[in-house]
Amino acid sequence: MASGPEKPLLRALAGERLSRPPWWLMRQAGRYLPEYRAIRSKAKDFVELCLTPALAAEVTLQPVRRYRMDGAILFSDILLVPHALGQKLTFREGEGPLLEPIANSSSIAGLDPGQIVPRLEPVFETICRVAESLGTQTALIGFAGAPWTVATYMVEGGSSRDFRQVKGWAYRDVEGFDALIGILVESTIKFLTAQIEAGAEVVQLFDTWAGVLPEAAFGRLVIEPTRSIVAALKQRFPGHPIIGFPRGAGLLYERYITETGVDGIGLDTMVPAGYARERLQPLATVQGNLDPILLITGGSLLETGVRDLRQLLGDGPFVFNLGHGVLPETPPENVQALARLLAEPIATT
Ligand code: CP3
Repeated sequence: MASGPEKPLLRALAGERLSRPPWWLMRQAGRYLPEYRAIRSKAKDFVELCLTPALAAEVTLQPVRRYRMDGAILFSDILLVPHALGQKLTFREGEGPLLEPIANSSSIAGLDPGQIVPRLEPVFETICRVAESLGTQTALIGFAGAPWTVATYMVEGGSSRDFRQVKGWAYRDVEGFDALIGILVESTIKFLTAQIEAGAEVVQLFDTWAGVLPEAAFGRLVIEPTRSIVAALKQRFPGHPIIGFPRGAGLLYERYITETGVDGIGLDTMVPAGYARERLQPLATVQGNLDPILLITGGSLLETGVRDLRQLLGDGPFVFNLGHGVLPETPPENVQALARLLAEPIATT
C-alpha cells in the first residue's frame, strides 16, 4: 500500500499525540505565492487551471517545496462539483465565483451525478501525478465541499451575505431542497471515492457556511448529509481518515463530531482552544486554528499565537492549521517563520 501509517499527519489522525504537531494550511497554494501567480497568469481561467493536471499538480506542490508541510492539499475547488453537474461556473477577477442560480426543484432535474467522475477525470489525474512526486513524509489530502455549503453557492449564484434564497427554499420546500442535498451527497461520495482511488490519503469536507444555520436545520442540512458521506466512505475505505470542517458551528461542534463519525475536526478561528481541549479532543483529532491574520502580522504576535495553541492542544491528537484559509496578502516569509516555529520541540516551562 502506498500510504503507510508512518506519515505524521496520518499518525495524528489515527489518534496519536506527536511531540511536534504535523501541519498544513487551508489555501496553502494560491495568490500569496509569486510562483502561483506566474502559473495562474498562464491559464485561461481558474476553472481551466483546476482542470489541467500538469498545472494543478505543479501548484499543489509549490507550497510543499518551499515549506515541507506534512500535508499537500490537492489544488482544486469545491465548485467543480456543480460545474460537473452541468451548472455554468465562472470566476471573475476580484469578484469570486458566479453560477447560474438554481431556483427551485424543477431546475434540479438536469443535474446528473453520473457525470461527476467522467467530467472530473483531470482532477484524478492531478492526484496521481502529485502522489508520484510526494516523499515519504507528506500525505496527500483530497477534498470536497459539504452539500450544504455547495448548495449555498448553487442557489445564491455565488457568495452571499444573508443566504436568503437558499434558506428560504430549504425551509419552505423541505422535500424539494432535500432532493438537491441528496444529489450533492451522491456526487460527493462519487467524487471522494475517485479521489481516494487515485491516491488521496486523507479527505476533508469543507462546510464553510455550516455556522449560518439554526440547530434543527444544522442537524438536517449539515450533520445528516455529512453522516451519509462519512458512512459510505468508511464502508469502502475503513482506514482512510476524514476531516470535517463545519466552520462557525460553535456549540454544535460536539454534536457534529459524535453524530457524523469524522476522525478529525477542523476548528475555525473562534473556537476557544481550552474548550476544544476539554470537550472536542477526547472525541476526535483536533485541527486548527490560528487566526490567518497572525500570518499577515507575523513577528512576536505570530510566535505567541503558535506557542499558545501548541501548549493548549499539543498534549493530545493535534494537527496544526489555520482557523480559515491563508489570505492573499500573507507575506511568504511569515509562512517560513511558522514552519520554523513548528519545527521546534515544545517548551516545557
Ligand atoms: O487549500 C488549498 O490550497 C487547495 C485549493 C482550494 C481552493 N479553494 C483554491 C482556490 C480549496 C480547498 C478551496 C475550497 C473552497 N473554494 C471553499 C471552502 C474553503 C473556504 O475557503 O471557505 C470555498 C467556499 C470555495 C469557493 C471559492 N473559490 C471562492 C468563494 C473563491 C473566490 C474567493 C477568492 O479567494 O478569490 C474561489 C476561488 C479560489 N479557489 C482561489 C483559489 C486559490 C482564488 C482564485 C484565483 O487564483 O484567482
